[in-house]
Amino acid sequence: MKILAIESSCDETAAAVVEDGRRVISSVIATQVEEHKLYGGVVPEIASRRHCESINGVVREALSQAEMKLTDLDALAVTYAPGLIGALLVGVNFAKGLSLSTGLPLIPVHHLRSHIAANYIAHPDLKPPFLCLVVSGGHSHIVEVRDYTDMKIIGKTRDDAAGEAFDKAARTMGMPYPGGIHLDKAASSGDPLSFSLPRPKVSGNPYDLSFSGLKTAVINLIHNSSQRGEELPVNDLSASFRKTVVDSLMEKFLLAADDLGYKSLVLAGGVSANSLLRQRMDEEAKKRGLTVCYPPLPLCGDNAAMVGAQAYYEFLSGNTAGMELNAAATMSIE
Ligand code: KG4
Ligand code: ZN
Repeated sequence: MKILAIESSCDETAAAVVEDGRRVISSVIATQVEEHKLYGGVVPEIASRRHCESINGVVREALSQAEMKLTDLDALAVTYAPGLIGALLVGVNFAKGLSLSTGLPLIPVHHLRSHIAANYIAHPDLKPPFLCLVVSGGHSHIVEVRDYTDMKIIGKTRDDAAGEAFDKAARTMGMPYPGGIHLDKAASSGDPLSFSLPRPKVSGNPYDLSFSGLKTAVINLIHNSSQRGEELPVNDLSASFRKTVVDSLMEKFLLAADDLGYKSLVLAGGVSANSLLRQRMDEEAKKRGLTVCYPPLPLCGDNAAMVGAQAYYEFLSGNTAGMELNAAATMSIE
C-alpha cells in the first residue's frame, strides 16, 4: 500500500511516499529554520505562511522523486495534531483538497505517534509491544506502545519538555535556534561534573518528569555571572546540563521498564538525536540485556516519512477521515 504523507505541524513542510509503513520511496523536507533563527524561535504566523507557499512544490517533488502520479497512490495521510494550529491547518486542508479531487482515502496521523513510527522505517524487526521515551520540542512522555495504534502514557513532564529546556538553556548561552543540537555539540568537549545543577524531583507518579527548575537554575547562573561581568565556560555548563537532563530521562525510563517488565525500549522525537542519550541507552542495553532502538538522525526531527509509516497502521485499524477532519493544537497520543 503506497501512501503520500504530508507534515506541517511546526517549521518543516514535508511530504513523502511510503510503502506498507516501512519502505520510504521518497521524502522531501523544506525547512524554515533559517528564517525563525532570526527571532530565536518559531514565529507561528511566519510558519503558516511559509507552509502555504511551499506545500504544493514539496508534494510535487515527493511524487516526482518517487516517479509516481497521484493515480499510483492508495491513500493520503496528514499530521492533524498536536502542533501549531495555523501550521497544521495548511497541511490538513491541502490533504483534504487532494483527497476530494482524487477520491483517495485520507488518514489523520497524530504527530507523536508518527515520531514513534520513524523507528519502524529504520528497524524492520521492531514491533509493539515496547516502551517508548517520546522526547520532542513540545512533549516528554513515557509511553507504553501496546500495539501500533494502542498507546498508554505512564509518565510525562509536569512542566517543560526536554527539548524546550535544551533550547532555552542554549539560547541563554548565546547559541542559535534550535539550540538542542548546538548544546549537544558544545557539551561533547566539556566536563559534565564541572557544575552541580539541581536534579529534577517530582512527587507522586514515579515516572513523571520535570525540567523547568533545572532550566531556571541554568538561566539564573548565566544571568548572575554576566551581571558580575564573568563569562561561564559554555562547554562545561552544556555538558553538566546535558548530563542532568539525560540522567533524569534515563532514570525514569529505566525504572518504568523495570517495573512494567519491558525488554524492548525505543526512543523517539527530536531529542532522541542527543548523542549522550543514545550512547547511554546503548550502554544500559548491553548491561541489562535490553533491546534499544532509536531513529537514524535524519528521521529524529520532523519529516513526512514517519507520518506515512504510522498512517499505514492507522489505516489497518480503520482510522480514516472525511471532509470533517480538523486540526487540533493539543491532543493526547492515547
Ligand atoms: O520532535 P521535534 O522535531 O519537534 C517537536 O515535535 O516538538 O523536536 C525538536 C526538538 C528541539 O527542541 C531541538 O532542540 C531538539 O529536538 N533537539 C535536540 C537535539 N537535536 C534536536 N536536543 C538535544 N540534543 C540534540 N542533539
Ligand atoms: Zn516533532
